[in-house]
Formats: sequence, C-alpha cells, structure tokens
Amino acid sequence: MLDYGKLIRCAFQAREFSYSPYSHFRVGAALLCKDGTVYDGCNIENRAYGPTNCAERTAFFKAVSEGRREFEAIAIVGGAEGEEPDWCYPCGVCRQVMAEFCDADDFRIVCAKSEREYKVYTLRDLLPEMF
Ligand code: THU
Repeated sequence: MLDYGKLIRCAFQAREFSYSPYSHFRVGAALLCKDGTVYDGCNIENRAYGPTNCAERTAFFKAVSEGRREFEAIAIVGGAEGEEPDWCYPCGVCRQVMAEFCDADDFRIVCAKSEREYKVYTLRDLLPEMF
C-alpha cells in the first residue's frame, strides 16, 4: 500500500508555487515514479491563456525530461484561491499525457482534499476507451 499521505503533502507544497493570476485556481501535483522518486508540479498560466500548463503535466514533463518513464501514482490537489481545497480532477489533455506513459490499470490517480480525505482512481477509470 502506497503512502498516499506523503504524496498528497508533496502536492500541497507544490501548489504553493501555482502561478494562476488569471483563473485564481491553484493546483499542485506530485508524481511518484516506480523507482521511488517524486516529481512535483504546479499550474503555470499565461496571459495568452493557451500556453497554460496544468500541474499534472508540469510534473510529468519534469520527470520525463530527467529520464523517468515508469510511474506509480499521482496526487492532485486544487481549488480556488483563498478557499478550502475542492476535488480536482485531471483535464482531458493531462489524462492523455498520462496514457502515453502509464499502464491504465495500474497507475493510480489520487484526488485529494486533504491528507486524510482522498479518492483513488486508475487511469482506466478516468480515461476509458483511450486512444
Ligand atoms: N488545472 C490544473 O492545473 N490541473 C487540473 O487538473 C485542472 C485545471 C489548472 C489549469 C488552469 O491554470 C486552472 O487550473 C484553471 O483551469
């Protein structure tokens, strides 16, 4: 059994760096690699909106760009600035990026409101009939 609490804590720390002056929706993610390393990420917005990168993809791209290709789980935390964290699910683009690198039935997506309150999905749950 994975230590989801630790991964969630790491996602909350990453959320501190969220650059979200346009949506004011702050997201953090922590990606656990099969070798035990963790890459975190936050959402990074842009005045042109389109170049915005989600927290999940930030974490994936950091990891892949440093040679990691095998992943166990990702914790995701998010919510509007100044409010209690809400359930935050990965967008379609991030799900597709996960599909590139992760086994759909093994990879765990942990959506958390706190270290104790979280829901766990497989990638298959969130992206059935994938490309
Ligand atoms: N966002 C993420 O970073 N991850 C998600 O799972 C959902 C959405 C970001 C993108 C944008 O900066 C803000 O949240 C509002 O959509």
